[in-house]
This record gives sequence, structure tokens and C-alpha cells, in this order.
Amino acid sequence: MKLWGGRFTKQTNRLVEEYTASIPFDQKLFEEDIRGSLAHVRMLGECGIIRPGEAKKISEGLKTIREKIRAGKVEFSVSHEDIHMNIEKLLIEEIGPTGGKLHTGRSRNDQVALDMHLYVRARTLDLVKALTALQEVLVEKAEEHVDTILPGYTHLQRAQPVRLAHHLLAYVDMFGRDAERLKDSYKRVNTMPLGAGAIAGTTFPIRRERVAEELGFDRLYDNSMDAVSDRDYLVEFLSAASLIMVHLSRLSEELILWSSEEFGYVELDDAFCTGSSMMPQKKNPDVPELIRGKTGRVMGHWVSLMTTLKALPLTYNKDMQEDKEGVFDSVETLKGALALTAPMVAGMKVNGEKMRRNAEEGFSNATDLADYLVTKGLPFREAHEVVGRLVLTCLHEGKSLTDLTLEEYREACPLVEEDVYEKLKVENVADARNAGSGTARSRVLEVLKKKKIELD
Ligand code: ARG
Repeated sequence: MKLWGGRFTKQTNRLVEEYTASIPFDQKLFEEDIRGSLAHVRMLGECGIIRPGEAKKISEGLKTIREKIRAGKVEFSVSHEDIHMNIEKLLIEEIGPTGGKLHTGRSRNDQVALDMHLYVRARTLDLVKALTALQEVLVEKAEEHVDTILPGYTHLQRAQPVRLAHHLLAYVDMFGRDAERLKDSYKRVNTMPLGAGAIAGTTFPIRRERVAEELGFDRLYDNSMDAVSDRDYLVEFLSAASLIMVHLSRLSEELILWSSEEFGYVELDDAFCTGSSMMPQKKNPDVPELIRGKTGRVMGHWVSLMTTLKALPLTYNKDMQEDKEGVFDSVETLKGALALTAPMVAGMKVNGEKMRRNAEEGFSNATDLADYLVTKGLPFREAHEVVGRLVLTCLHEGKSLTDLTLEEYREACPLVEEDVYEKLKVENVADARNAGSGTARSRVLEVLKKKKIELD
């Protein structure tokens, strides 16, 4: 017998049951569902909507069911459609007809909204913690590599030398903004929808403030129709999650490139790589590759939910049941990606010499030579031309700018003096960028200090 069977004259078609059921995936919400029900029933008792003894009996029944589910002793059934009705059915089996009083003044529409708010609220905090842990690892690695210089790239062509610490700190800030986005969305996810009933509210004299207080919500929905229709908080969550994955995918891509023979900048720990079934020499960066790959999946969940909601009339429509799997999957995907990226970064070996060599050989000091000529009085456009020609000469002769003799320099431009060599050293090139957000040692140290304080 269905909980809603009264007005029906036939059994539900078996395929319909399977097609409409959400229990295969929303059983994940059993903790939230029971927690919400416990708060609801307590309030029903306090307000005299049901008798205190009944409230107590229902609470105890719910707790017993929770223990059974936790112990894996419960078999859910698609004929009870979702986690809400499965639990209500179990409750009635457990304590008898009194169990049927739990749903007084409530609908599955506000119940499912409550469950998802509780679920996403907790996961939002977990993710903020995981992001902070990753930032800490990146800061630590940055501290070790203040004096490691590598070429910074634009267009993936060597551009200007940067300190590895500076490069890593860029990610610290990306993940910092990601954490801020999650914290900001927390304000909205921490709003309680219960009390909306199916759509228009309830006729029972409920005190939803009591329920909100018990569940730790700091706001209530003002409008019952909004409360049961709103999935904004899930869209926001998926959007923040997508961007975190995008940031992780950029870091992953760099680790993949950097650990290739061609770059040789880092070596990932053996424990974080896999081999080839055929080629004995291989050590593959599967973890960052998969993180890069799974990014599309999380972005897809965001697009999917936006598409579900687009042009959907108020209020609850069954389409909205499609909000869950993408959110659950995104949480798991992100959790895994963050949990792996932190130790992978912590354990990677950095080949500072290779980085340095590439910075020295790659003309990444060419801008500084042009700037040098400007300080000696040459207009920048002419200086650019002179340096361009010197680079061409070096390319022909397989040299870098610091290999040129003073005579060769003077031939190109008589303004060059002995001090040019000092100017062109990669450290000095980096340290010349000491204004604002630049890569100079002094700036990097300041920013490192600031990040450590912020993370504390
Ligand atoms: N399983 C449903 C969902 O996930 C719960 C709400 C169902 N409400 C309804 N009136 N059918 O959306």
C-alpha cells in the first residue's frame, strides 16, 4: 500500500515505479532526512500539534531506524519511491500508526528542500577546509622555493623569469577566492525552507523558528512558494565547484607538462603515478590527468541543473528530482581531487637547476636588456629593435644574452657598459619587479607572510 494510495484504484506500473523513484540515489540523504524529522517532530510536540508522548515515540522510532540504516540493516524499496517515504514507511512498521503523525504540517516538497540544504551546508564547510589544507601545502612548497627561478610563460613561450614561489602563490590566491565564494554561498544555503508545506504553507500552528534554531539555520524563507522552488543554492554550489575544478585542472595540466621529459621541472612521487602494461619505462601522471578529465563532469552537472530549471514553472515539479545526482557526484569528485592534489604537490620533487637553465637560456631577460638601454637614454622602440636583433644573433650562434661580449654589445649599441651582465642575471631580473604584485624576492616574502597570517 502506497502512503498516497487513497485516491488510486490500480497498482502503479512497475516500470513507472522504477522510473520515478529516487531512492537508489537519495538514500544518501538519510542522515539529513532523519535529523530534519527529529527537529520537526519535537516542535510538533512542543506546540501541542501532537501529544508529547507521541512525539517521544516517533523520535525514538526514528533513532532506531537511523541505527539500522547506519548498520546496513535496512533494505530500501523503489515502491516507496524516495528516502522520505521509505523512512516514513519504516517508522510506521516500527512504532505503528503513531508514525503516521510525523508528516503533520509538512510536505515532501519542503522536506526534500530541507534535506538538500542540510546536505550542501555541511559539504560546503568540508570543501572550505579541504581548500585551506591545499593552500597550506602550496604555501609550504612556496616557502621552500623562494629562490628557485623558472621561466614564466605566456603563450607557453618563455616570457620572464619568475620565482617558483610566485608561481605557486598564484594558485594559493585562486583557491582563496574559491573558498570565499563557498563561504558567501553559505549565507544562502543556511536558510530553512521547512514550513512551506507543499506550496502555500500549513494550517497547523507550527513554530518553524524552533526548528530552524535546532538545526542551526540562521534565516527562514519568507515565501513558501520560493522555499519549495528554490534551487539557486545548488546552482551556486555547482558553479563554485566547477570553478574549483577548473583551477585544479590548470594546476594539474602544469604538473603534467612539468613532469614530462621535455620540461623535466618536477618529478611526481611514485606513490601518485601509475605504470604502463606494455611499456616498462613509463611512469604516468594519471592523477592530475584524471582531475583534468573530471573537470568536465562537474561543469556538466552545473549546465545540467541550469537547463533543468530554465523555464520551469513554479513551484515543485518532478523535474527537480534531477538536482541530486549531479550535486552528489560533484561533492565526491571534488573531495577526491582536493584530497589528492595536496599530497601530490607536497611530495613532488622540484628540479630547480633545469628550471633555472631554461630561464637563463630562454631570453627571458630580453625585456630587461631593452629597459636597460632605455635607462641609458635610448627610446624604448629603438631599444626593442636593438635587443630583437641581438636575440637573433644569439639564436644563430646558440648563445644566450649573457654570453655576448661587451664588444658585441657595443657594436649593437654603444650605450652598453660592463654593468649589463649584473642586470641580466635571472635573480636580478626577477628582483627588479619589486613594485605591486611582482615576483621580486622582497615582494614574494611579504606575500608569503601575509598568506600565512590569512590561513591561520
Ligand atoms: N524525491 C523527490 C525529489 O527528490 C522528493 C519530493 C517529491 N515531491 C513530490 N510531490 N513528488 O524531488
